[in-house]
Amino acid sequence: MKADFKPEKVVIKNTKDQTRDSRTFTLAFADGKKPNTYSFMPGQFNMLSLFGFGEAAISISSDPKIKDTLDHTVRKVGNLTEGLFRLKKGDCIGLRGPFGKPWPVDEAKGKNVLIVSGGIGLAPLRPVIMHIANNRANYANFEILYGARNPGELLFTDEFDQWKKIKNTNLQLTVDAVPPGEKWNHTVGVVTVLFDKMQSTPKDTIVMTCGPEIMMHFAVQGLTKKGFSEDQIYVSLERRMKCGMAQCGACQIGPNFVCKDGPVFKSPITKALYA
Ligand SMILES: Cc1cc2nc3c(=O)[nH]c(=O)nc-3n(C[C@H](O)[C@H](O)[C@H](O)COP(=O)(O)OP(=O)(O)OC[C@H]3O[C@@H](n4cnc5c(N)ncnc54)[C@H](O)[C@@H]3O)c2cc1C
Ligand code: FES
Repeated sequence: MKADFKPEKVVIKNTKDQTRDSRTFTLAFADGKKPNTYSFMPGQFNMLSLFGFGEAAISISSDPKIKDTLDHTVRKVGNLTEGLFRLKKGDCIGLRGPFGKPWPVDEAKGKNVLIVSGGIGLAPLRPVIMHIANNRANYANFEILYGARNPGELLFTDEFDQWKKIKNTNLQLTVDAVPPGEKWNHTVGVVTVLFDKMQSTPKDTIVMTCGPEIMMHFAVQGLTKKGFSEDQIYVSLERRMKCGMAQCGACQIGPNFVCKDGPVFKSPITKALYA
């Protein structure tokens, strides 16, 4: 489907709460023929719109192989997302997309893949996990390092057991803090503390990282100290977006349009953010 300014009508088929303020919306095109012409790559996003509330960029969080529905995992932070959380199964919203450059899943073929993610940053990486599970023979070792502020802030917790069963896959979890009385059998500390426990090495590995910008900055720093080159690390950036098509300049970082040249970039772009 060619992405443009005209939204397509989509129906909310299902909703699933992930944390106290984030929810996965499963959407289906109202026009039953659309799935024949719409496809996306892991890491791409759609512009979701709600009449009277506006429009926002939201990553597609579902399996790229599934054609009839699209998941979007949303944190309630402002106008559009609060409006979205008031909707129910059967309600309609608008969708434009898909937009942006995907994660380098083709370049990573034959290599090891390391995911480093924090909080809601796992949403755009879930399609990578599903893509690797679907095409396991195309990739070597697979490792996922995932952290959140506390256990209640972790997304997709009911899928962790399934992910651990993907051949040659290592999932490591950490939280910044454990609330008193809560049980937690994994690491405590920010996600970069997992670098001392990870199995991945720089050799033939592609890293994909997404989370708060400051987390990605320290992840790139920590990984380069471990011998990873900046060119083998990819980050996904967030900027306020309007057109999604490199027309309005809202999302520019220097010469780069995050909506078109990103959101996935090689990690040296983070230098422009912390120069
Ligand atoms: C490529 C991409 C992918 C994304 N994927 C996801 C995703 O998968 N899930 C998800 O939950 N979010 C995602 N986002 C973030 C999402 O687009 C924003 O959170 C969006 O602003 C939400 O819209 P809203 O109308 O609900 O909130 P807004 O009303 O836009 O407010 C969001 C936050 O920004 C602040 N804010 C409002 N106006 C401004 C301003 N002018 N300048 C600076 N800050 C301001 C608000 O105080 C609030 O904290 C993504 C963003 C990008 C660029
Ligand atoms: S959102 Fe308009 S240029 Fe990127």
